[in-house]
Amino acid sequence: MKVVVLCGGLSTERKISLSSGTKICGALRERGHQAVLVDLFLGLENESEEVRRDPEILFERLPELTPVVFDGVAPDLKAVRASRKLKDASLFGEGVLGICKKADIVFVALHGMNGEDGRVQATFDMMGIPYTGSGHLGSAIAMDKMITKELLRSRDIPMPAWMPFRGVSIGEAEETAEKIRAAFGVPCVVKTPTGGSSVGVFIVREEAALKPAVESCLAFGPDILAEQYIEGREFTCGVLKGRALPSVEIVPKTRFYDYSNKYAAGATEEICPGRTDPDTEKRMGDIALRVHEALGLRTYSRSDFMIDADNNVYFLEVNTLPGMTPTSLVPQEAEAVGISYGELCEMILTDGLARYTEKE
Ligand SMILES: Nc1ncnc2c1ncn2[C@@H]1O[C@H](COP(=O)(O)OP(=O)(O)O)[C@@H](O)[C@H]1O
Ligand SMILES: [Mg+2]
Repeated sequence: MKVVVLCGGLSTERKISLSSGTKICGALRERGHQAVLVDLFLGLENESEEVRRDPEILFERLPELTPVVFDGVAPDLKAVRASRKLKDASLFGEGVLGICKKADIVFVALHGMNGEDGRVQATFDMMGIPYTGSGHLGSAIAMDKMITKELLRSRDIPMPAWMPFRGVSIGEAEETAEKIRAAFGVPCVVKTPTGGSSVGVFIVREEAALKPAVESCLAFGPDILAEQYIEGREFTCGVLKGRALPSVEIVPKTRFYDYSNKYAAGATEEICPGRTDPDTEKRMGDIALRVHEALGLRTYSRSDFMIDADNNVYFLEVNTLPGMTPTSLVPQEAEAVGISYGELCEMILTDGLARYTEKE
């Protein structure tokens, strides 16, 4: 099958996406697919004249993949933007839509904004390009933690108590902080609703730190989600083709699960399956499935949870395009039920394609 593995883009998770994409592309080639890796933002502009004229030859040539070693440092997106030769407002790089149109399916290996937020999927829908994973609406809802919570409120999904603030100006930081203090006290959590990889998540432990946290959060946008802080252990649980996978327990060696902890080798311990009793594990899996279904997600997703000392499970958020390197969480969970990385990539591909063929 001709596959474009689409990765990169202009999000804070750009580098992780490049490593997910490279690994997925390699695994699909091993299984006999003509898989080509394409950077959403840079596109084909660094390819030869010949390829740029006729991108389809990439499916025959299958250029060698350069291994990506992720350094745990957030990408310099300004530098990425400046490095692009195509000076255009489009988030699609040169030739991207053209080569996607020539593929049998696009494997979406993007993470974060412009990928996980549904806009790429909406474009593909309009252009009749088949792609893997969730559609545009589910992706867009899941990208906003506040809308996700509003939607799940009526569905009996246990979540930390929360308070939404929309359209806050910097001048309103003080009164917003005061409302959060009155509602939750400290510790509490202040987060930007559309962040990812813990960027824009602030765990506030002292009252004096509340206003600065609100101000820092406002740097990401005018909306703020305040939450009750759940003291406990952190878990994540994937869904694959209608069933919950075993959970992973995440044990950060320092502080909470922040950006550097998430991606620096050895900074967290990941235990799969997580150390829970069967009843708690089942409740968590059921919630992950219900969230997946409530948002109309497709093929796979991964929900994050906190579990307190009394085994109460709290849903935090759902990721529609979770990390997909062989050591990422969903691949670990799949491995625990005997699904190899290559098989997982293949399942995502064929399940994605089935949607389009069934319709005809
Ligand atoms: N209400 C909460 N109570 C305790 N810890 C939290 C809470 N919300 C977030 N965290 C911590 O912050 C991390 C990131 O938050 P999350 O909502 O999953 O956002 P994202 O992963 O999109 O950045 C979590 O993995 C967890 O360690
Ligand atoms: Mg998370």
